[in-house]
Amino acid sequence: MRGTGVGLTGRTVLVTGASQGIGLATARTLARRGSVALLVARGAEALDEQVERITAIGGRAVALPADLADADQIDALVARVLREHGPPDVLVNNAGVGRWLFLDDTPPAELAGMIALPFGAALHLTRAFLPGMRARGSGRVVMVNSPVSRLPIPGATGYAASRYALRGLTAALRLDLRGTGVGVTEVIPGKVSSRYFANNPGAEERIPVVARLIPTVSPEQVAARIARAVERGRDEVVFPWQLRAFEVGGRLFPGLTSYLAWRTGTRR
Ligand SMILES: NC(=O)c1ccc[n+]([C@@H]2O[C@H](COP(=O)([O-])OP(=O)(O)OC[C@H]3O[C@@H](n4cnc5c(N)ncnc54)[C@H](OP(=O)(O)O)[C@@H]3O)[C@@H](O)[C@H]2O)c1
Repeated sequence: MRGTGVGLTGRTVLVTGASQGIGLATARTLARRGSVALLVARGAEALDEQVERITAIGGRAVALPADLADADQIDALVARVLREHGPPDVLVNNAGVGRWLFLDDTPPAELAGMIALPFGAALHLTRAFLPGMRARGSGRVVMVNSPVSRLPIPGATGYAASRYALRGLTAALRLDLRGTGVGVTEVIPGKVSSRYFANNPGAEERIPVVARLIPTVSPEQVAARIARAVERGRDEVVFPWQLRAFEVGGRLFPGLTSYLAWRTGTRR
């Protein structure tokens, strides 16, 4: 499906989780294409360093450190963005965490953290920026989601719940925004060569053997797909094609797909 695309030159783009991985690559790519990139993550030093690098290649970027698991910090971030930059033209909800754990192995505080990000942060940031985006009558909200939002795997229960919630938010928001000029894009890459699995130890080993047939993509490839989806107004990007094939298979043959995920996934 397609909506109205947004040209990137001169646009203000807010990217969460922009200190490394998919978010950083996206901020760099969009800044290279002429956007003003607002980089959000907790690590202030890492953000400053990345802003310097983007500036050194002639791009425009601003570091906005914030912990998006903290409601007060989200409010402060939103107030600062609206005051200093106005509502973003493009909001990329990318920051996400979560180890892959069975539900009853997950400490409650950690469970709350993996629901707070990506789902809660995307929900609250989008809500806060929507009035300005709607008033402008153009723009795009991008959700970076996981294959687990389509194809659940064993032993990643809180992670899957947060990604399914993000998928629900995306679908509902897309309906609400129909005809407003503001579009919603969901980008679902396969495994990405970021530090996600180092940052969330124990997850990588839980990728079911059957899913290892899907080649790993780089953060830069994800960033390029995000940029293209925004420019062309694409609603959904699932890639690489091997993941798309699994995703279609999951819809056509749900019993077989969940059997394979269970048979080749983690057990206890
Ligand atoms: N890697 C994969 O294979 C893959 C595949 C498909 C989808 N995804 C999804 O894509 C998203 C991004 O993944 P990634 O691979 O780029 O992860 P990553 O390399 O671990 O980067 C995560 C980013 O989120 C930021 N972040 C973490 N907690 C935060 C918080 N409380 N407040 C603000 N920022 C926070 C981190 O910076 P700070 O630590 O400085 O805050 C970092 O910039 C995740 O939701 C992931 O599930 C990943």
